Amino acid sequence: MGQESSDQVSALAFPPGFLWGAATSAYQIEGAVAEDGRGESIWDRFCRMPGRVAGGASGEVACDHYHRWPDDVALMEELGLRAYRFSIAWPRIFPTGGGRPNQAGIDFYRRLVAALRERGIVPMATLYHWDLPQALQERGGWASRETALRFAEYAACLFERLGHDVPLWATINEPMLVAYAGYAGGTKAPGLRRPRLLLAVAHHLLLAHGLAVGAYRQLVPAPSPGAHAGIGIALNLRPCHPASPQPGDVRAAATLDALTNRLFLEPLFRGRYPEAALRFFGRRTLRLPALPGDLAVIGAPIDFLGLNIYTRTLATRDRNPLRGVRALPGPGPRTAMGWEIYPPCITEALALATEYTPLPLYITENGAAFADRPGPDGAIHDPSRIAYLRDHLAAAHKALAAGTNLRGYFVWSLLDNFEWEDGYGPRFGLVRVDYATLARTPRASASWYRAVIARNGLA
Ligand code: FCB
Repeated sequence: MGQESSDQVSALAFPPGFLWGAATSAYQIEGAVAEDGRGESIWDRFCRMPGRVAGGASGEVACDHYHRWPDDVALMEELGLRAYRFSIAWPRIFPTGGGRPNQAGIDFYRRLVAALRERGIVPMATLYHWDLPQALQERGGWASRETALRFAEYAACLFERLGHDVPLWATINEPMLVAYAGYAGGTKAPGLRRPRLLLAVAHHLLLAHGLAVGAYRQLVPAPSPGAHAGIGIALNLRPCHPASPQPGDVRAAATLDALTNRLFLEPLFRGRYPEAALRFFGRRTLRLPALPGDLAVIGAPIDFLGLNIYTRTLATRDRNPLRGVRALPGPGPRTAMGWEIYPPCITEALALATEYTPLPLYITENGAAFADRPGPDGAIHDPSRIAYLRDHLAAAHKALAAGTNLRGYFVWSLLDNFEWEDGYGPRFGLVRVDYATLARTPRASASWYRAVIARNGLA
């Protein structure tokens, strides 16, 4: 019996060289929003709009990572992380979106990257994790083609300065949420409720990605095959299931899948937008502002695909023809975000990505928020987070066993942090942050994850 269970342990071994990491993003952890020449971002502005962010919170201090980063890197080393995904704040590099780069901003990331490399932690830098310079928003933000051009300059500036030290680059984080939550739902910055801008925003985000890939090819030597290196994008994929077997719901699931997942996969890998999405938007007279040649730019070959995977959605038909489809949460148990816990979302999202590309895949985010507090002994037991991570990693292992080209996994998040419109309520960290003192306390899940990394697999 004992022998049997230890055989099961080795059955959940991950491939040699599998990249184990944790992820964060600039606005969610850095704070220091007015330091060293950083310009205003759309999130600084959004947080000041009354009623937009829970508790009137903002990223003004966040985890104060901008000052405490050496401690945070030491923490990563204690956790045994092999990789760290962070994002670069565009307004630290180009405070007004263009012009001359701000050296102090570049130096901050240069020091961070050097410290990571000294400890053998592979840096993955995301260029855009939602903190657009406010000055560019004033010229239309992602609804304007100009933003994609400015993004290409910003990306090129960083490839020139950090391209040799950062092996993994992700261009844009979750373009789907930028478009839908930022410009249609209005729940995220810039907080617009103008669904008519959706297609333009999605297209300009993808164009920005493609232009950055082009700059990368000119400025950074080709990565050696098999290395954890190169450039990609981080898409959030949510498998869509019909809420019922009714034909209306089955169609709604296909439509929702096209509008959220395939709207990005298809241009990246097949050089076109999905018919179903164009039909949907066409009926609502949304225009695609594509110029000749754009789709070739967007489809420029990348080196890996990053996937942020948290849950699935159920789709149902919405009788309001303007909406047409509605996403519902699934019936299973939920995290503190209200997201259904559904571990097969991992295998299903990886299968969806594999439909489009044989490229190396990284799970660039997966994790869960749960409420907890330190026990009398000061220790923080978070069995729900451990169970979530274990079950989702087991699903990733299943996908690997089926031949999926999955190369690494990043927990969201290293630290509790500013969870966008939800403020500081939801806690995603392997490490708890006390927002009064900014003290960091690793949770039980942190030791658990360290053990997973050390044995390169699950027990
Ligand atoms: C993702 C975001 C990330 C974090 C997690 C919980 O959509 O990329 O910044 O907010 O959700």
